[in-house]
Amino acid sequence: MNDYQINTVKIENIEEECKDIKSFTFNISRSNIDNVRPLPGQFIMVWVPGVDEVPMSLSNADSNGNWTITVKKIGDCTEALHNLNVGDYIGIRGPFGNSFIFPKDTSRLIFLVGGGIGMAPLKFLAKEISKKKMKFILIEGANYDKEILYIDEFQTFSKDISKIFYCTDDGSFGTEGFASKVFQEELKNYSKNQLSNALAYTCGPEKMMFEVFKICEEYSIILEASLERMMRCGCGLCGLCAIDDLLVCKDGPIFNSKILRNLDDFGKYKRNFSGKKIKI
Ligand SMILES: Cc1cc2nc3c(=O)[nH]c(=O)nc-3n(C[C@H](O)[C@H](O)[C@H](O)COP(=O)(O)OP(=O)(O)OC[C@H]3O[C@@H](n4cnc5c(N)ncnc54)[C@H](O)[C@@H]3O)c2cc1C
Ligand code: FES
Repeated sequence: MNDYQINTVKIENIEEECKDIKSFTFNISRSNIDNVRPLPGQFIMVWVPGVDEVPMSLSNADSNGNWTITVKKIGDCTEALHNLNVGDYIGIRGPFGNSFIFPKDTSRLIFLVGGGIGMAPLKFLAKEISKKKMKFILIEGANYDKEILYIDEFQTFSKDISKIFYCTDDGSFGTEGFASKVFQEELKNYSKNQLSNALAYTCGPEKMMFEVFKICEEYSIILEASLERMMRCGCGLCGLCAIDDLLVCKDGPIFNSKILRNLDDFGKYKRNFSGKKIKI
């Protein structure tokens, strides 16, 4: 794989997930990366011709070369993406970064805790965990009811989800409150022994992930968190995505508890586009 080569792909399908969030599917079979099989947690750089290039996690990738990204409209590039139609072309580079690690022991207690657009890589992970016939507990948080993602899709692998919780900041859907709070409450239902074998995966606002991390530390649960930082090259060249002395695009975006414990910036600081440290 050439990290710098842009592959042009045609948008095959667009799904309106909810207000301001759409999923775009394209097929890579006729590109230079036709033999690449991305893993949950990996991301791609998406170039919208004439606008910008931005990082996006993969929310799905199947064995026929259909890859999907789920995009929240928040600025120029994501708005331009939202204005594209089926049949339009975008450029992609990647997949980049590491991936979530599946447990070898299929009997482990697994928690997926996500918030907002952070559900995108967790949905891909949930699908792959389901394929391995492992059960998991899913906690999805959103600002309000219209931003809850993938309800129908989660129904399709519901036999693998032992429990599913929805929560919203304003209480308009599911429990009122943050996903981290629901996670903390749910943990009270398990014995110390059960939790000693648990594993948690999280993606979403960093403040939420930091809370999830602290809870996991309290219960000695191993956590994998998907972090976001400003990215320009996506492949270890520009240094913009630095967190402490690591690069989110190369060393991450998935970081486990062992690494998170030693990251001073985690949950506290990020860098803006000019590289200046700002409070999260
Ligand atoms: C590894 C990774 C995975 C991501 N996955 C998704 C995803 O699955 N779905 C999704 O909707 N969004 C995802 N994002 C965030 C997405 O990249 C930004 O929303 C997007 O870049 C915004 O661009 P814009 O021009 O629309 O908005 P702008 O107005 O340019 O920026 C709005 C905000 O988006 C963030 N942002 C802007 N440019 C970048 C950049 N180059 N790198 C990182 N953050 C940026 C900043 O917080 C900024 O304040 C991911 C980011 C990273 C780092
Ligand atoms: S985005 Fe350039 S080094 Fe990570």
